[in-house]
Amino acid sequence: MTILAPGAGSLRLACEHLACAKAVALPTETVYGLAVDATSCAAVQEVYRLKRRPAANPLIIHVASMQAALALGRFNRSASALARRFWPGQLTLVVPLRKPCAISAKALAQSDTIALRVPSHPVALDVLRLFARPLAAPSANRSGRPSPTSAAHVAADFGHDGLPLILDGGATALGLESTVVAAVGDPCSILRTGALTRKAIEAQVGELAPDGASPIASPGRRFRHYAPKLPVRLNVQEVREGEALLTFGTPHHRLRGAVARFDLSARGNVEEAAARLFSGLRSLERSGAHGIAVMPVPSTGIGEAINDRLRRAALLECEG
Ligand code: TXA
Ligand code: MG
Repeated sequence: MTILAPGAGSLRLACEHLACAKAVALPTETVYGLAVDATSCAAVQEVYRLKRRPAANPLIIHVASMQAALALGRFNRSASALARRFWPGQLTLVVPLRKPCAISAKALAQSDTIALRVPSHPVALDVLRLFARPLAAPSANRSGRPSPTSAAHVAADFGHDGLPLILDGGATALGLESTVVAAVGDPCSILRTGALTRKAIEAQVGELAPDGASPIASPGRRFRHYAPKLPVRLNVQEVREGEALLTFGTPHHRLRGAVARFDLSARGNVEEAAARLFSGLRSLERSGAHGIAVMPVPSTGIGEAINDRLRRAALLECEG
């Protein structure tokens, strides 16, 4: 595996790999993605193999522009308004598929909807423009693991699995995945909370349908996710013996004595905590602790998505 800084040579190399149905890991503004040519069945198969991802869980299709997205999906009024306001950026829109469609049916898990995103990270956009085809790009973690926010996280999950190239763009700015919005009927609804807040979306299209009310499901929500290798305990008031501590704000005296500690945000800022969450989970699992205790994080703004990820990380069993 090669890890390269983005530049003319490494971008060209990335496109050569993509053209040979290989996967390339690249930074987006949310988390690192494992990108493949979305029009190639063999390439899409490779990304499911690498991630060990269930075939029933479809992939987000990344494109370079609104125009490219309109060629693949049917946008209602709300979808158009959201795309115009938030693309490029941390929004994924699930819309009805426009047929016939060049995207591999396997990438869509045979569904007649498509999840589309125009990322804003310059490296992701450069690769999309140079390759000039849509890229299917799930988060570049092994299925079920915390998403990667650095090239080192990607290398830790795929180091020995034949991933040829990681483009290293440093730590990702937002640190949580895009918000997935279903714009199939009206009003829209949120399928996965994420880096774009509910408030920002509602300011654009008005009140959303309640989560879970959409006629379509988000298949990825059924699986245990974001999980470090240790048990996770939430909203703790005290640490137990052998536990590591993930802090938010200033820990009081009953939280002393943790075997290791990672500060999400000492000043109690939810955006900073979001950017550091997956790094924190990955770092504490290597601390020698028996478990991870997590201080309460408020659900305001991006805090809603932080708490969603933490709840899923703490699940012991697969939900379904
Ligand atoms: O920020 C992100 O969204 C990152 C970066 C790399 O773009 N990508 C990402 O992809 O998080 P992934 O595969 O880890 O999560 C995609 C989510 C899954 O929950 C999946 O079930 C859902 O989007 N999804 C994809 N296509 C869908 C569809 N047609 N209908 C409903 N949900 C869909
Ligand atoms: Mg993922």
